[in-house]
Amino acid sequence: MLKVAIIGLGTVSPIHRQAVEDSKFAKLIAVCDIDKDKESIVEGVNFYTDIEEMLDSEKLDCVHICLPHFLHFPTIIQCAKKGINVFTEKPLTLSYEEATKLFDLEKTYHIKIGVCLQNRYNATSIKLKSLMHNKDYGKFLGSKGIVTWCRTMDYYNTAPWRGKIKLAGSGVLMNQTIHTLDLLSYIGGDFDKINAKAINFTLPLTEIEDTVVAYLKYKDSEATSIYFATIGHCANSNVEIEMVFEKVSFKIFDNKLYKYDTLTFEQEFICEDKKLDGSKHYYGASHFFAIDSFYAAIVHNTNDYVNVRQAAVSLKLIETIMESSQENIEKPV
Ligand SMILES: NC(=O)c1ccc[n+]([C@@H]2O[C@H](COP(=O)([O-])OP(=O)(O)OC[C@H]3O[C@@H](n4cnc5c(N)ncnc54)[C@H](O)[C@@H]3O)[C@@H](O)[C@H]2O)c1
Repeated sequence: MLKVAIIGLGTVSPIHRQAVEDSKFAKLIAVCDIDKDKESIVEGVNFYTDIEEMLDSEKLDCVHICLPHFLHFPTIIQCAKKGINVFTEKPLTLSYEEATKLFDLEKTYHIKIGVCLQNRYNATSIKLKSLMHNKDYGKFLGSKGIVTWCRTMDYYNTAPWRGKIKLAGSGVLMNQTIHTLDLLSYIGGDFDKINAKAINFTLPLTEIEDTVVAYLKYKDSEATSIYFATIGHCANSNVEIEMVFEKVSFKIFDNKLYKYDTLTFEQEFICEDKKLDGSKHYYGASHFFAIDSFYAAIVHNTNDYVNVRQAAVSLKLIETIMESSQENIEKPV
């Protein structure tokens, strides 16, 4: 059994705790949060308020980082230097440059660093990726990603780091829609040019962008992508991803994958994401799959997890989107 600890007992942490509990590979033995009041949240494990003290006191095989974005980079390094495997929440780091400084860490300290881009483990994402190279569909023309969610000032007042550029890196891009941007590239291929606009319509008391529109070009291809993300909507609507070919198109919507015939508009249901039972599983099953796969990779020494180089791709895209917006020009990725 892998001995696991979680650092950060905020909003996302219950999903990690549940995944550890559900995994046959691991056991939670310690948790850490700077806020002493959170001690009662998890029973039966050791509680620490200081990360270094926990890493020195416990014999850990893997640490989950569920911390504000600015703490990911230093905490990953802190754990790596002690030879402990790390599973970190997204975004990997605050910037692409920071991410590149982690590229050789696994080799140096003989550890694995997995990044929680759990939507890659959705059944719909896996199936759609497997269909991308079918010659029968004709040329790949492009993709679309739409995220329209709702985050009011309450969300930022509860955890003020979320609204500050130095602490969060960015707003809707890094905090909410990094998953969709990641999938457009993971499924559709690398991008090489981006023209984008990032705006703050609804959260004037924060420093972040709440809305982004981007036009992206796929590398070595004429295929394009249109991406729209906002947290200024009145509700949390389902994410939509579309991949368009000459003869068919595929759409992920409502956690289901459909195929459409371009000529007849005939719709065919292909598959849907797995859901877990119980109120704690409203995020879906993919957190569990991402975490369990990471544990399996540690136990069996495989590379079947999202590593730092793979996770750095969406950080580079986010940076290019912001640069394009600030400079009002198309930017190379
Ligand atoms: N993958 C997903 O779908 C998903 C969903 C939600 C959040 N997240 C990510 O999870 C991470 C955490 O987000 P959140 O919304 O849970 O944040 P949060 O602010 O709710 O929780 C962060 C916790 O870290 C603690 N903390 C802060 N500094 C600390 C320190 N030095 N040592 C120990 N504990 C410390 C805080 O007290 C707090 O309890 C972020 O990276 C976020 O982007 C991912």
